[in-house]
Amino acid sequence: MHILITGVSSGLGHGLAKTYLAQGAEVYGCSRRAPKDLIQRGLHFASVDLADARAGTPVFEELIRPVPHFDSVFLNAGKLGEIRDMQATPLDDLRETMEINVWSNKWLLDSLFAHSRRLTQVVAISSGASQSGMRGWNGYSVSKAALNMLIKLYAGEQTETHFTALAPGLVDTAMQDYLTNLPDDPRYQPLAILKAAKGTARMPDAESCARQLIQILPQLLELESGSYADIRKL
Ligand SMILES: NC(=O)c1ccc[n+]([C@@H]2O[C@H](COP(=O)([O-])OP(=O)(O)OC[C@H]3O[C@@H](n4cnc5c(N)ncnc54)[C@H](OP(=O)(O)O)[C@@H]3O)[C@@H](O)[C@H]2O)c1
Repeated sequence: MHILITGVSSGLGHGLAKTYLAQGAEVYGCSRRAPKDLIQRGLHFASVDLADARAGTPVFEELIRPVPHFDSVFLNAGKLGEIRDMQATPLDDLRETMEINVWSNKWLLDSLFAHSRRLTQVVAISSGASQSGMRGWNGYSVSKAALNMLIKLYAGEQTETHFTALAPGLVDTAMQDYLTNLPDDPRYQPLAILKAAKGTARMPDAESCARQLIQILPQLLELESGSYADIRKL
């Protein structure tokens, strides 16, 4: 099995890579920071800043060059940004969020589909924030909603590949550490819910979530390609 995962240095991407490596898969991954523990276990890794398409494209293409077919591709890397009102969010910050959470997935997919490379299944990690539009989740919500549409559009073009934009539910990662350490603020209602979920079964750790995600991959293939799905509702 050949697997590609973006954002392998921490959180869900790290959990997915660790699980697949333990199963004996050939795993390819990128992020800015190098996950030394996974590289020791055989991860094929390249350091790529997804905010910089020009510098990142040749490095990514060199990483995937030897692989003519990927069984699963996880477009997992993502940036949350600060929880604050849209009006208080600098335009450059929103642009960077869109670059990482949306446009990087366009050039990653274009590189992946070059040279007649075949991809069986692509799962883009989306979020419930793509639907809910909760105050404070500004650029993150906009970017994940756009990601869902990007995936739908690629599904219409690449009919030999199955695509899903998948919300993974709450996962106990660095992203949640940031959110659950914010001071209570009545403007940003999900914070209280996240703080209550942290440390409970409602917010599994990254490896548990990765195992669940790998288990439901065949179920995703039954959905229309390009669909948005929430792991909690499957
Ligand atoms: N945690 C949750 O509850 C939750 C809920 C819904 C959706 N999600 C989604 O799940 C995915 C994984 O998030 P996580 O919770 O595991 O967060 P995380 O621990 O912060 O991991 C984010 C990953 O993305 C990579 N990344 C961020 N910016 C990058 C950049 N400019 N270039 C290359 N890689 C970059 C990071 O690597 P480097 O920093 O080393 O570059 C890291 O490996 C994200 O798409 C997130 O939106 C998470």
